[in-house]
This record gives sequence, C-alpha cells and structure tokens, in this order.
Amino acid sequence: MCGIIGYLGTRTAAPLLLEGLAKLEYRGYDSAGVAILERHDEAPTTHRVRAAGKIAHLVTALEASPTNGTHGIGHTRWATHGGPTQDNAHPHFSEGVSVVHNGIIENHAALRARLLEDGFEFKSETDTEVIAHLIAQALKSHSRLHEAVQASVAQMQGAWALCVISERHPEEIVVARHASPLLIGLHDAETSGHATPEVFVASDVSAILNHTRSVLDLNDGDVATLTIKGAKITDVDLRQVTRRTRRITWNAVAAEKQGYKHFMLKEIHEQPKAIRDTILGHVDGDNIFSKRNFPLPSPHGRVILLACGTSWHAALCGKILIEQLARVPAEVDLASEFRYRQPVIREGDIAIAVSQSGETADTLAAIREAGRLGAKTLSICNVVDSSIARMTGDVIYTHAGPEISVASTKAFTTQLVALSLFSVWLAGRTSSDNGEDEGARDERERALLTTIRNLPSTIESVLEHRERIQRIARRYAQYRDMLYLGRGLGYPVALEGALKLKEISYMHAEGYASGEMKHGPIALIDETMPVVVIATEGPGYEKVISNLEEVRSRGGRVIAVATMGDTQIEQLAEDVIFVPPAHPMLQPIIASVPLQLLAYYIADQRGTDVDQPRNLAKSVTVE
Ligand code: AGP
Repeated sequence: MCGIIGYLGTRTAAPLLLEGLAKLEYRGYDSAGVAILERHDEAPTTHRVRAAGKIAHLVTALEASPTNGTHGIGHTRWATHGGPTQDNAHPHFSEGVSVVHNGIIENHAALRARLLEDGFEFKSETDTEVIAHLIAQALKSHSRLHEAVQASVAQMQGAWALCVISERHPEEIVVARHASPLLIGLHDAETSGHATPEVFVASDVSAILNHTRSVLDLNDGDVATLTIKGAKITDVDLRQVTRRTRRITWNAVAAEKQGYKHFMLKEIHEQPKAIRDTILGHVDGDNIFSKRNFPLPSPHGRVILLACGTSWHAALCGKILIEQLARVPAEVDLASEFRYRQPVIREGDIAIAVSQSGETADTLAAIREAGRLGAKTLSICNVVDSSIARMTGDVIYTHAGPEISVASTKAFTTQLVALSLFSVWLAGRTSSDNGEDEGARDERERALLTTIRNLPSTIESVLEHRERIQRIARRYAQYRDMLYLGRGLGYPVALEGALKLKEISYMHAEGYASGEMKHGPIALIDETMPVVVIATEGPGYEKVISNLEEVRSRGGRVIAVATMGDTQIEQLAEDVIFVPPAHPMLQPIIASVPLQLLAYYIADQRGTDVDQPRNLAKSVTVE
C-alpha cells in the first residue's frame, strides 16, 4: 500500500506535496519522491527528487534542490516489487512523463519484456516504471495525455491508482483508478483560504484535509483529466461521466483511520484487499511463485518454521498445511526457544522465518542460528528489505501494507495465505509418498487455489456481521477470563483468538486444543468462564461438538464460530458467529476474522488503548 498526492494550482507545489506525503506515511514509508513541472520560456522541464527512507529524507533532499513549480505529484512507497532504494522510488520517468502508482501490475514482466524490445531502457526493478514507458510510448500516437493513459491502462492487469504529469501537457494532471483508492480534492476556498482555483488528488482524504473538504470519488476504470477548472472523467467504456462530490466532515486524525475508531478496526477491514494483493503478488493464472526457486528440503529433509507471537500461530497452521499437502515433515519452534535448545539440523532441512516486521530479535537470531547449523533459509515477511528478509535472501512478501496497530490482524491472515500458497507450491515439487495419485492431488490443489482466490469476498461477507459480533462482545466484556478451544487447524486459531483478546483488552484468555480439556482445563469450567469454540466444518468437527457438550454440561457459556447452515450448533452454543463454508485448509483464515472483531469490541467496551496496548511494542527488537 503506498501513498499518492498531486497538486495543480498557483501555490508552490513542493510544501503541499510534502505535507500530504507526511499524512500518508502510515501507508508506506520505505522511500518517497516528487516530480514537479518547472515552467521555462522554451518548454517545461521536470524537477524530480527522490530519497530512500522516510519522508524526512525527501524533505532534506528537496531543501538541497528547491523548486517553485506549482504543478506536481508525490509518492511514499511500501515496496512490493524491488527494494526500498532511491532508484525504485516513485515518481518514475520516461520521455517527459512522470508517474506515481499505488497497486500491483500483475503482467508487468510481459509488458517490460515488450518495452525492452521496443527500445525502452529500465532504471528500476519496479512494476511502476513499466507504466511510465507505456504512456511515453502511447504519446507517440495520441496527442492527448488522457487518451495515452487510457491506451496504457488498457494493456495492464492488476490494481492501480495512477497520477501522471507530462512536460508536453503542462496544464493538467491525468489520474486513473482500478482496484486501488484514489480521490480528487476540488477547490475549496473556505478551507484553504485561497481564492485562486486549484485541484488536488490523493490516496485518501488525510493528505489534503487542510486544503479541501470537497472531494470527488472515482470509480474503478475511470480516467480523469484535472485542470484548475475541475475534472473531466471517462469511465471504463471511455464514456464521459460525472462522479459524486461529497463534503468531508472528519477531523484530521479520523481521516488517517479513514473514519474507523482505531487502526486495528481499519486493518481488520483491510484484510480483503491485503489478501487480494498478496495473491496478486504471487499467483499468475494457475502458477504460484512462477520464476521463484525457493530452497527445497532434501527427500529426507524437514521444514522448520520459526516465529513469535501471532506469527508463531500462523506457523503452527503452516506446519499442518505443509504436511497435509506436501507430505514433507514440518516442525514449528518458538524462535525465543529454538537457539537455546541446541537444535539438531540435518543436511537438507530448510528453515522458514515468519515475521510481519522482519525485525523481531528472537526470530532474527533463530533464523541466523538455523542457517549457521546448515539449514537453507527462507522468510515470510511483510516489510520489504527488513533485517530478516535481507538475512534469508529468499523471501515471500505478504502485501498487507503497513500494519500500524500493535495487534496483528491483516499480517496474520496474509501470512496464512502465503503459507497456503507455499504448501501448494511445495506439494508440486516434492515426491508424494502418501500414495495419492497425481490427478487427485492436482485436483485438490486446483480446488484450494480457487478457494484462495475467493477469500477476499468470503472475508467481506464475514465483516458484514460486525454489528452482531459487537452485540455478543458487549455480553462478555466484563468477564475476568475466557477460554478458546479448537482442534486441528482450529487449535492455532484458538491460540490466536486468545492472544488478540488478552493483548488488547487485558482480560486473561487461554487457547487450548479442545481434545485437551479432559486432561485438566475442564476443571476451570463454570458460569464465570465463557468459552469460545472454533467449530467450523472440517476434520474433527464431531469431536469438537462433544467437547462443546462437555463445557455446556458444566454450566459454561459457549460462543461458537461455525459454518453457515450448521443447525446443530445453535442448540448447543449460547451465541454463534457463522462464517461461509470454505476449503477446510483455509478455515483458519476465515475463522480468525470474527475472533479479531470479538477481541476488538470487548477491548473497546473495556476502554483500553486498542492500538497501543500497555507494555507492548509493534516490533520486539530486543530479546
Ligand atoms: C501480535 O498481535 C503481537 N503484537 C505479537 O505477538 C507479534 O505477532 C510478535 O511480536 C511477532 O512479531 P513479528 O511478526 O513482527 O515478528
């Protein structure tokens, strides 16, 4: 997820672009840049300044290379293709055209190959630079920038929010939107205090709220030409259209959360997009990780997953998925325990570090130790070029975008998507010794891939039940303890649900394998100990039901997460949160979303600091 800003008017653009980028830094902060047109008698030129690192580095670079131009675009980057370097920073430039982009161009490799053949030279590893060359090429046959952008986006697949300026078109900014947010800020003299007409474009209102509260939302497929007179918009069918203008009433802080009360709630709701972006980044047709050669375990090798906290819960799911799909032995270790237990690593083992931040000290130390002992290493990270990503070399990035809330939500579900994809990829490369015939295995993988593709809409339907989950949360917010039970893939989900609750609400919560209840924990059950049970359809469902009956017969109150259509569960549980049916191997992703919302609403009810809970840090960079 990146941040985009654009300005065209009579004020000096640089300070306005920098102010907007600073507001958008929560969307991405590994590099930034601006391109501003400077008007000279002979012809406009482009003043482009870019810097790796935070916005502050760009501010310094612009101080050293100032410009008074009044027409420009800016970008703060969350790297998806290519590391966070100055060369990869936006805007990208080609023959007088500058482009900033938020999204992923799925077919960028094919377009790059064609443009190289057409004589274009590439200076970055990004998918965005392809767009700059496409538009430069289209301008050879289209006089209007609007049409050149239309012709270019018609060749692209994936997601984009684009802002384009061109030295040959110094009176306009052209923008395009498809599956990535972008809005236009119209002249608002009351808010800005400036009577002379001007126009803004931004990824979200937080970037421009000090200058306009009058915004116009673009639809997917729209291309718009912005001038100081306003916006001319064409839709996906190239028809001229008008779009809804609205008045923003939020304050600046609310705007960064896009109207959500907390970043955690916003990030829970970003999961459909985060999962879509993770899939887009790694699946091309039926090909998973095409052109990637991750290390493979030897025929007698193992996969060892190393992680902490929520990422460790994802790794527990990863173990089950890898063993069930690829039939490769997999182990999971708490990173903080791994290197102190004198682990045995055999030749042919591979170690995978799972980490949102890529900076967790325990996980960094564990993966370093695994490599020292001879394991080949790989990581699953959300932050590009983070320490763990750089250490392992081979990385599967989750494209969740920056996760601001300390409690991890979209990083967790995108880790599960990455682990599911890795398990399918590995299954296709290791000899299956479980006697399953090739055809059956391929059929199962195709079914899994189809369900993975449907995940964003499945999760959207789960999020529609937020009010019902909030009502349930209100009934349990004042308890002192809560137990979470699950079996199989539901067990890590139980652990994760309990962690979410305890870390943001300060209520004690414990996750347990439901089959373990009779070995001790059932002594805890009475009316003061509510129990959340992950009872979705799948292997072990009947057993979970009998565990649930054990709890009920001892007076325990039960909240069940179950599959839509399950009529039996309603007789047994006091409250049921239904989720859509899905491939059993993907249930953890779907079942964890209601538990995130349950924890969030209980914490909100208890008035804790949801985004920055006491005693916690977003990235634990100390042991
Ligand atoms: C998640 O809600 C927690 N904040 C915490 O357990 C976190 O998952 C853990 O510290 C690992 O962080 P990482 O994924 O960045 O390595």
